[in-house]
Amino acid sequence: MTKPTGDSKTKTYTRFDKVQSIQHIIFLISFSVLGFTGLPQKYMLSPISIGFFNIFGGIENVRFIHHTSAIVMMVVSLFHVLEVLYRIFVLRTPISMIPWISDARHVYDDVIYYLGRRKHKAYYGRYSYAEKMEYLAVLWGTVVMGLTGFMMWNPISTLRFLPGEAVPAAKAAHGGEALLAVLAIILWHFYHVHIKHFNKSIFTGKLSREEMEHEHPAELAAMDAGEYHTPIPEAVLRKRQMVYTPIAIAILAIFSYGFYYFIGYETTAVTTPPVGSTVQVYVPQTSTPTPTVTPTATATPTKVPSATPISAAGDAPAVSLSSTPSVANAVVTWDSSVGALFMQKCLMCHGATASGGLNITTYADAMKGGASGAVFAPGDSAANLLVVKFEGGKHPYAVLSPEELAIIKAWLDAGALEK
Ligand code: HEC
Repeated sequence: MTKPTGDSKTKTYTRFDKVQSIQHIIFLISFSVLGFTGLPQKYMLSPISIGFFNIFGGIENVRFIHHTSAIVMMVVSLFHVLEVLYRIFVLRTPISMIPWISDARHVYDDVIYYLGRRKHKAYYGRYSYAEKMEYLAVLWGTVVMGLTGFMMWNPISTLRFLPGEAVPAAKAAHGGEALLAVLAIILWHFYHVHIKHFNKSIFTGKLSREEMEHEHPAELAAMDAGEYHTPIPEAVLRKRQMVYTPIAIAILAIFSYGFYYFIGYETTAVTTPPVGSTVQVYVPQTSTPTPTVTPTATATPTKVPSATPISAAGDAPAVSLSSTPSVANAVVTWDSSVGALFMQKCLMCHGATASGGLNITTYADAMKGGASGAVFAPGDSAANLLVVKFEGGKHPYAVLSPEELAIIKAWLDAGALEK
């Protein structure tokens, strides 16, 4: 409660008490630390952020500091809630931080003043509309940051109630709100309390009469008229405190449990999981068949050339036929694999439509060749039209991978057999 002390000229007015001053300092420090450790995490790939992480010995340390100051901010915010409730219900201080109709009037008066149509600014009471808006912004911001912070800190529990998008959405909101808050402090708060007029009252707790006349004329007038600080009788105060104390303890207990849950429930985001023992990854003994070469008619395991890349000139056969021992010497045939490969990759153009005169619907059709003659000539695969066409990437509409070409070459070299 603002009350006058000293005499007329040197009179100072108590604006904030020690408790408020200390709250502000703790909030200021935790806010700054959160900003300094949070923004580099938002812009983590920028060289400044990386330099910052290096100074602190890695991002894990930065996150630890971030989380610690988040806890400090949560505690001071809880304290603030309890304190405000105490002021409202025990001290019965009038609620002066919430925007009211008179504030709309003040905004209007100030606009008129700024337009030069009025001699003086609006007569603010204890808090101007600008101060009220800033306070509400802090309240809102703290709630948003707390909730989204919780979601990132405890993603698994979050996803029990919300869909998966919630966590990245929380991350976006957390970073965006952080940027907004930091800019609001730098642009708005610094301007209003440091640049426009260096107002030290949050630290000293005091305002001079002159400052009061400028900043809070309506409050000053009310004080001069003796409308302020009607002392509360001791007995009444005691009684109210007796009622408030258990309520405060209950709130404290609920929030403490909430904080404990917040901080300790999941370790996902707080620590990097320990590195387990190194094991051999699963490696199949035989090479997996290339997906495009699915066995067709036969039920026996198909031997498939290993995926060794072949050299350009085609020093055939550059493929080694790895297979299960029982079919070690089986050869690649149309029926075993090549036919299926052609069906899959070529039939759409070389079916009934026979692009370039080439129809490969059946083995017999394919062996007839295309407009340029035989395509699948058995024997020397290196000279084969098909191999030349595909190895040089000269087919304008289709490509064959080196593995697929290797199979086809192996098939040609083995005599281009049907079965
Ligand atoms: C998107 C359609 C298309 C696909 C798929 C396609 N081709 Fe062709 N192919 C053509 C056309 C059109 C021609 C004729 C024009 C040319 O030779 O440039 C042709 C020509 C050819 C020729 C030359 C025929 C000749 O006698 O001149 C061969 C060989 C050939 N294709 C093989 C294949 C093989 C093997 C495949 C599958 C891996 C295949 N093509 C996939 C459209 C296609």
